[in-house]
Amino acid sequence: MNLVNFFLIFFFVNIFLCFRIVLTINSSNGNDSINCFDLRDAFSKSTANFTSCAVNNSHPITFCENCIDSYLDVLESHWNLSEYHEEGDSTPCIDKFINLDRLQILTTTYLNNLNLWSEAKCYECFEIVNGSLTRNKSNRTKEFNIRYYALKECINSTSNKTVCTDCMDDYLHLNVYYQSISNVNDKIGVCMDMVDLMNNTWSYWSKTCCKYRQHNETVFLVSAVVILFITIVFYLLTQWFVKRKVPTIIQQPRFVESINNLSTDDQ
Ligand SMILES: *[C@@H]1O[C@H](CO)[C@@H](O)[C@H](O)[C@H]1NC(C)=O
Ligand SMILES: *[C@@H]1O[C@H](CO)[C@@H](O)[C@H](O)[C@H]1NC(C)=O
Ligand SMILES: *[C@@H]1O[C@H](CO)[C@@H](O)[C@H](O)[C@H]1NC(C)=O
Ligand SMILES: *[C@@H]1O[C@H](CO)[C@@H](O)[C@H](O)[C@H]1NC(C)=O
Ligand SMILES: *[C@@H]1O[C@H](CO)[C@@H](O)[C@H](O)[C@H]1NC(C)=O
Repeated sequence: MNLVNFFLIFFFVNIFLCFRIVLTINSSNGNDSINCFDLRDAFSKSTANFTSCAVNNSHPITFCENCIDSYLDVLESHWNLSEYHEEGDSTPCIDKFINLDRLQILTTTYLNNLNLWSEAKCYECFEIVNGSLTRNKSNRTKEFNIRYYALKECINSTSNKTVCTDCMDDYLHLNVYYQSISNVNDKIGVCMDMVDLMNNTWSYWSKTCCKYRQHNETVFLVSAVVILFITIVFYLLTQWFVKRKVPTIIQQPRFVESINNLSTDDQ
């Protein structure tokens, strides 16, 4: 008898446990297990992570490319906070944390993150589908990267002496494309990752390939000096000739006068 009772109890306890597990699995899908402080902590972690990522990728700037995941987390955790509410409470969790004082820490932090992202024009680096940001690189980024890596590969595979002539085509190819996608009127013309790569490319190119320009500048300076010298000599010679010709010029009026005299004589 005791053994049968034991098995019955064991059986019911098991059923009860299974039921509990099913219950908790079900309830974790709904709103009733939401704890606003957990959502707030998730938001806090995601902004901390995003800030850390931004600083880690600030030089050289690989911010947009490397922080897209943490940026999307910030958006999602903020969305969770404004969308979900605790059981038996109809106002979303975010109302427990915003509009309660003038400092507005949560809102300010969130807006700062959004501003950093849009000031760097990171949205231009990625595809935007139906108005929402995706992890996929935009066509501009893909095209720019193809040209950038072509130049990089050329530079790495060519000796320093011939790099400027051998990689000139790749350099111009990249440059022309960059100019075509970059807005010259803006301080940051296009997605910041590209701006920084291009800036470094320009620095490298002018450091490596401007020997020729310096040579040209010498030629330019020498020809300028020669031309100046010739001009001065020409000026002095002209002065000298003008002085010698002065008598003939003075004689002219007499000649004209005599012609005039002749013509009045005729009348
Ligand atoms: C930033 O770099 C530090 C160490 O350099 C690392 O511990 C941290 O996890 C990095 N942050 C992110 C978000 O990658
Ligand atoms: C937002 O909520 C969903 C569902 O609760 C969760 O899976 C996701 O991890 C949350 N996102 C963030 C960034 O906390
Ligand atoms: C974009 O939105 C439209 C309607 O709003 C929908 O039909 C379409 O499937 C969406 N496209 C993607 C890629 O999500
Ligand atoms: C991202 O690109 C992959 C492969 O090109 C594609 O399958 C996926 O649908 C894209 N995702 C979005 C959100 O556009
Ligand atoms: C390009 O680099 C130089 C020097 O490294 C810097 O002074 C300048 O601000 C950079 N330009 C942009 C657009 O980032």
